[in-house]
Amino acid sequence: MKILVVGGGGREHAIIKKIKLNHDVEKIFALPGNGGIARDAECVDIGAKDIASIVAFAVENAIDYAIVAPDDPLVLGAVDALEEKGIPCFGPRSNAAIIEGSKAFAKDLMKKYGIPTAEYAVFTDCESALEYVSTAPVPTVIKADGLALGKGVIIAQTREEAISAVKSMMMDKAFGKSGDCVVIEEYLTGPEVSVLAFTDGKTVVPMVSSMDHKRAHDGDTGLNTGGMGTVAPNPYYTDEIALECMNRIFMPTVKAMNAEGRTFKGCLYFGLMITDNGPKVIEYNCRFGDPETQVVLPLLKTDLLTVMRAVTDERLADINVEFEPAHACCVIMASKGYPEKYDKGFEITVPSDLEDKVFIAGAAEKDGKLVTNGGRVLGITETDVTLKNAIQKAYADVEKVSFENAYYRKDIGKKALAATEER
Ligand code: AMP
Ligand code: GLY
Repeated sequence: MKILVVGGGGREHAIIKKIKLNHDVEKIFALPGNGGIARDAECVDIGAKDIASIVAFAVENAIDYAIVAPDDPLVLGAVDALEEKGIPCFGPRSNAAIIEGSKAFAKDLMKKYGIPTAEYAVFTDCESALEYVSTAPVPTVIKADGLALGKGVIIAQTREEAISAVKSMMMDKAFGKSGDCVVIEEYLTGPEVSVLAFTDGKTVVPMVSSMDHKRAHDGDTGLNTGGMGTVAPNPYYTDEIALECMNRIFMPTVKAMNAEGRTFKGCLYFGLMITDNGPKVIEYNCRFGDPETQVVLPLLKTDLLTVMRAVTDERLADINVEFEPAHACCVIMASKGYPEKYDKGFEITVPSDLEDKVFIAGAAEKDGKLVTNGGRVLGITETDVTLKNAIQKAYADVEKVSFENAYYRKDIGKKALAATEER
């Protein structure tokens, strides 16, 4: 089989390493991939948003199966366009990807179908939004409606902050067109859990839960990032909560999408907060999370391509999806300065015995060497029967991987470990 993977980050590298294990796979193309992915797949210089070129490439190269990983091409209709040419895909069509593409859509869906989430209001005109925040309780959460690289969320601690957040999104267009519409939400508290789930529109198979570390610095301080590390499973996600989520959130969401004529097939990501009033949805993503994928897939026992094809063919109920009863920890090594300004072009050295554990996100190949080329450079994942050992092993590996100006958090998994030990 010839497989095409759209995307070029650490998540895609983790997917590709797993897909490679299937003996039917002869060739994997990554569009665009990156310097590290180039060691596991053939990278082709076609951007993930260039749908027309992706489809043309897939047809020319007689691709048997396509995996569309990032949000942008999904929302833009990459799966619809590939399917039109008869190429089976993993990922939702555009009319279902809207569950991530528009926060207003997601909130209205949850309200209509009684799925627990924060109270909210949606605004498309700035004046009404400003009027609303001038009396709304604080803290309050202000979100740009569209995709904003995970950065379109501002938690305003004061009314003044809320007013300036609305102005920056709606008047100054800090997130471009994504800010034409804003969602203003009730502020919730509680531990956050990420659950990625395979679904074919009929059956939902949640994967092992995980915990992201979104802030740049130790102790959950600093700016929001794309994610500085993850652990799986998430100790706050107990069996009891998992059952509640299945009955009140996961199945109702899949059914709601069907009822709206927007059947979701692919990986549906539930960003949850475990509040005193039970689990609530903070966000949906229409894809695998990054860097959640880098801890979830290493624990997957069942062949990934087999599961993906079962999703595409709506046979998910017929297969058993199994995970190792173990723990995983992924530490992201970033460029110093990320998520703001940082330098690129530093050589990366990865010892050969660690290649399988390193997922390259932001790196390029230059004169046969791997050099840094992004904010999040790579992730290192270790697994073990205990969380404590998984964390220790991941940090021991970090010491062996080097590049100039490397920055990483020192406390990935610390909160999870404390929560595990409390039990
Ligand atoms: P999102 O991009 O929607 O995942 O939001 C980024 C982060 O903002 C989340 O991971 C939460 O930590 C926080 N957040 C989003 N919505 C809320 C809310 N309603 N209450 C409290 N925190 C929130
Ligand atoms: N780690 C969060 C995301 O993928 O959106």
